[in-house]
Amino acid sequence: MKLFKCEVCNYIHTGDDAPDKCPKCGAPKEKFAELNEEATTKVVRSEFSNTLHMELYNVLQEVEDIAEAGIEDDLDPGCVAIFNKAKEQAIFLRKMIVAELEIHMKKGKWGAE
Ligand SMILES: [Fe+2]
Repeated sequence: MKLFKCEVCNYIHTGDDAPDKCPKCGAPKEKFAELNEEATTKVVRSEFSNTLHMELYNVLQEVEDIAEAGIEDDLDPGCVAIFNKAKEQAIFLRKMIVAELEIHMKKGKWGAE
């Protein structure tokens, strides 16, 4: 599989050749550069992990919503302590995921889906 990156908008095309024009920004074919083997490996190798991070991020958003409902329900101090802890941990883990994905993008571990 070959990957071609639009040098105008960073869109990554997957195929045997660059597209005639960028489907995202309309730049002509000449603006596409083929990613070398190392860059391609980084993009391909990190796709699964990035997907897991995004799924986990969404689940953690649900955890936070459940925890907030529990805090509001306020049955007793033991329950509220658990829900507060769950909310705190969910927010912390989401921040860690955002930070990690930002590193992936800067290192080229991001791209074709
Ligand atoms: Fe583009």
